Amino acid sequence: MRSLTNNEQPTTIRIMNISMLGSGFIGRFYADSLQGYRSKDKVVSIYSRKEDSARKFAADYQVPHVTTSMEESIARTEVQVVCIALPNDLHEQAVMLCCKHKKAVICTKPLGRNAAEAMRMLDAVEKAGIFNGYLEDLVYTPKFIKAHESVKNGVLGRILWAKSRETHPGPHSDWFWDITKAGGGAIIDLGCHCVEIARSYIGKDIKPMEVMCWADTQVKPIDAEDHAIGLVKYENGAIGQFEVSWTFRGGLDLRDEVMGTEGTIWINSFLRTGFEMFTSGTGADYVSEKSESNTGWLFPVGDELNELGYNHMFMDMFSALEKNIAPRETFYDGYVVNAVLDAAYKSAKTKLWEPVKLDVWRGRVGVTKDSHLVEYDAEHYLIKEEVTHYGSRKVILKNKKTGRIVERVDA
Ligand SMILES: NC(=O)c1ccc[n+]([C@@H]2O[C@H](COP(=O)([O-])OP(=O)(O)OC[C@H]3O[C@@H](n4cnc5c(N)ncnc54)[C@H](O)[C@@H]3O)[C@@H](O)[C@H]2O)c1
Repeated sequence: MRSLTNNEQPTTIRIMNISMLGSGFIGRFYADSLQGYRSKDKVVSIYSRKEDSARKFAADYQVPHVTTSMEESIARTEVQVVCIALPNDLHEQAVMLCCKHKKAVICTKPLGRNAAEAMRMLDAVEKAGIFNGYLEDLVYTPKFIKAHESVKNGVLGRILWAKSRETHPGPHSDWFWDITKAGGGAIIDLGCHCVEIARSYIGKDIKPMEVMCWADTQVKPIDAEDHAIGLVKYENGAIGQFEVSWTFRGGLDLRDEVMGTEGTIWINSFLRTGFEMFTSGTGADYVSEKSESNTGWLFPVGDELNELGYNHMFMDMFSALEKNIAPRETFYDGYVVNAVLDAAYKSAKTKLWEPVKLDVWRGRVGVTKDSHLVEYDAEHYLIKEEVTHYGSRKVILKNKKTGRIVERVDA
């Protein structure tokens, strides 16, 4: 057996007892992932606003303790980890209770309704010294993990642009549509995923500097935006882009595009990923999240829990907890995302590039844009090199002194 080096801590596999706050849409996805595949981690307490939905959840997932008191669930002695799956306006209250009872906390996205709220939560968990994880599942999808590894290994060269798109026909509960409870519309709900995806490709240590955003309420009778597109400029010159909508028809469209000096990645995570099915409607059933139809030609998803990243996300969270280290996504990441989204909301109003206000920045500082000048010879920079369809090798060059652009063709 290989012996451990001084820096390595032996890993003890611990069974984690979880308090689940919220028995709705995401609480159930989380429980399916946590307790699926004969997992050892268990939800031991469920809190929900309505007793009947808490009881239904408890019956479905064999949860021994049911309560309509958030604090009672968190405070229980057997609870080691609290998983927040509540509407956005309740995240802060739940986090503060976890700090009071010194319980490890993992919180769904977005961390806060704005950066100020996220900052209070970050500050509180760090002062309380408790484990904190930010449940951004879309940076844990199998496709993202593979793509990100390639980016880290330099397969794409220098990252220039990273775009992430999440659009669907709108969320499923009343509170999402209430700007006060949700903190915004499609930008806060879906943009949080897209910003963290693009930020991860560009480098989480690279500071997001400013944001330009268009947002509008095009279809729904709500005060928040139902559609938006934004650009996020990073200190190294890379650009992040998010496209979000609650008015998109046809299902859940999740796509990333990454462009580097040496390569490109296109990821389609949900709609039309190679599994197509037709049904006349006989026995029509659930197809996949946000699917708008269950007849005709359909695009099912093989394993939603895995394709959406929940399994890998909880694996990272609980392994980190066992090793007493930070997971890949922490409340700090949630705070940075909120700060970018605050700037997006401001820009949508002012129609100007708005600075990202980060009172706490833990990444690199003073990063400069990489040079775009590629050396060819003593006199020239290389613009482009190619082999033509008629077999010639062609180079396009720029003279360093005169700036003149010339081409050279070898027959
Ligand atoms: N992919 C993802 O990561 C993802 C997907 C969907 C939702 N979410 C996030 O999960 C959180 C919950 O969203 P959801 O879709 O599960 O919502 P939901 O409406 O389906 O469930 C909310 C749960 O909170 C409980 N609750 C307690 N107090 C409440 C109150 N005052 N008002 C309303 N509900 C109350 C409800 O009983 C319910 O169990 C949100 O922060 C949302 O952004 C994340």
